[in-house]
Amino acid sequence: MCGIVGYIGTKQAQDVLVSGLKRLEYRGYDSAGVATLGPRGAATVLRTKGKVQELVDLVATHQKTDSVGIGHTRWATHGEPSKRNAHPHVAGSIHLVHNGIIENYQDLRITLQQHDYDFKSDTDTEVLAALIDYVSRDTSSLLEAVRSALGMVVGAYGIAVLDTKHPDEIVVARKGSPLILGVGNGEVFIASDASALLGYTKQVIYLQDGELAVCKASGVELYDMSNKILEPTVETLEMDLEAVQKKGYDHFLLKEIHEQPDTVRATLRGRIDAEAHTARLGGVNMTNDELRDVHHIMIVGCGTAYYAGVLAKYYIEQLLGDVVISVEIASELRYRSFTVPEGTLALIVSQSGETADTLACLTELKRRGVHCLGVVNAVGSSIAREVDGGVYVHVGAEVSVASTKAFTSQVVAMLLFGLTAADAKGVDPERRATLIDELDLLPGEIERVLKAHEAEVKKIAKRYAKYDNSLYVGRDTLFPVALEGSLKLKEISYVHAEGYAAGELKHGPIALIDDTFFEVFYLLDNWLYEKSQSNLIEMNARGAHAIVITDTARKVDAEVVVRVNSKLELLTPLLFNIVSQLLAYYIAIERGSDVDQPRNLAKSVTVE
Ligand code: AGP
Repeated sequence: MCGIVGYIGTKQAQDVLVSGLKRLEYRGYDSAGVATLGPRGAATVLRTKGKVQELVDLVATHQKTDSVGIGHTRWATHGEPSKRNAHPHVAGSIHLVHNGIIENYQDLRITLQQHDYDFKSDTDTEVLAALIDYVSRDTSSLLEAVRSALGMVVGAYGIAVLDTKHPDEIVVARKGSPLILGVGNGEVFIASDASALLGYTKQVIYLQDGELAVCKASGVELYDMSNKILEPTVETLEMDLEAVQKKGYDHFLLKEIHEQPDTVRATLRGRIDAEAHTARLGGVNMTNDELRDVHHIMIVGCGTAYYAGVLAKYYIEQLLGDVVISVEIASELRYRSFTVPEGTLALIVSQSGETADTLACLTELKRRGVHCLGVVNAVGSSIAREVDGGVYVHVGAEVSVASTKAFTSQVVAMLLFGLTAADAKGVDPERRATLIDELDLLPGEIERVLKAHEAEVKKIAKRYAKYDNSLYVGRDTLFPVALEGSLKLKEISYVHAEGYAAGELKHGPIALIDDTFFEVFYLLDNWLYEKSQSNLIEMNARGAHAIVITDTARKVDAEVVVRVNSKLELLTPLLFNIVSQLLAYYIAIERGSDVDQPRNLAKSVTVE
């Protein structure tokens, strides 16, 4: 998604802006730009289509000592990726960068054209810049102009505004699109994502929806939309520069795959009560009586977060028995006329906490009075602030666009919640004991799988990277693992990959199997072994090029067999998923795609 940076202080603004934009590259973008102001308001605007490096090269030939500026990485929503549509946008004395969507920008554009504004871009942002410029003619302060202009727009925004008439301040405002202010000594930093502040300051102010701020070198003045002065809450940023580095791995993705033993430990830390066979969660904010009254759990998410919910459902329904569990794709749910039965609890799953579709569902569910718990990674994110409580997954910055460590910890976090609910409902502790014991073993087991299978999977990837099509197949808890495994391959290697329930093969997909496909088949040595094995035989009979990932010691007939020697029973599917993550990564490497920033994708999809 788009990224915003801003700076006012004593440093050279261009340097701070481009270094911040580099840290935001992972969010996905197609163009970038910066605008700085000299002491008398002389503006320099530099914009490029393509990578931030091209902007860096352009800045190098237009160096300015200006100490006030704003910058932006754009992910096209209105108008194609181009320099013309890149931010900052300029109208009169106003320079603006914007995340979000102005829904009524067409009407505003027509009105402004009647006041002699002509537009050079296709963007809603340029219209907003013109509106602020137009309003500023009748206001004494930039803050007043921004506030009254925003009173006329419909939609979501996070903006940073410069005015050549007021060169010693930056005005920011937020509604639906995150903005964080970093407070330094005689300087203020602005960013849409904390990682851009790393290395500059750890003292931050999370702007809330409906808030505006005037940022000066001397500090921050915070206001609401009725011009009431607010007392800013300064918090200490938990991430640090080190956490964002690659730590010696070639890509953030491989680093994050290998971080999973530690990140699962972080998710579990202080939350397991092994004696009582339950979880102790501080942020659920529900009494045991309220938990006992839960009869329907609605899990909502997108992409990997949705698949984490599909997997968690199998475990939680085993734990709770009498509770109905539905898992919803947020972009579908938000426009469906769904019913919410009495006793519904929602689990809102999102790594970034900013996914527009998921946030929209949260807003609707809250409007209907549903108690909503977040299963979120990004502290202070929009979803994290809107929910009634929740379980932070605590995996740290997940920089690579493809989600790996967040998936595993989202499942773990939902299992912890399931244990809490089971405890409240008086479910037999013995039924919880196995899960508690396995959660405790899980980090070590992931460590062992990574050590035991990475080299093997790297070799397998070399052999199967030539295929453009694949089918991922699994039964029961392995079906969501097949869905997630196929998404990983799709999004980082651009190989067509479909995840399917094994029992569904005969209902169509088996017609696909030929020499242009390879298959990943998950096989658990459990009560479904024979059923699953017959699906494998069906595939092999049609010349499948199958990679079987299994925990069985029995003979398996397949082109390749990856034997995961698991100490677990229930949670082995999470270990199989680690193998899938490695397979997707190494196939992508073989195929030369941009592993951390795959084409067309964004880390956080903050627009529809
Ligand atoms: C997963 O690898 C993808 N990057 C994508 O499907 C992602 O899971 C989805 O956009 C949801 O993001 P969120 O967890 O931040 O809400």
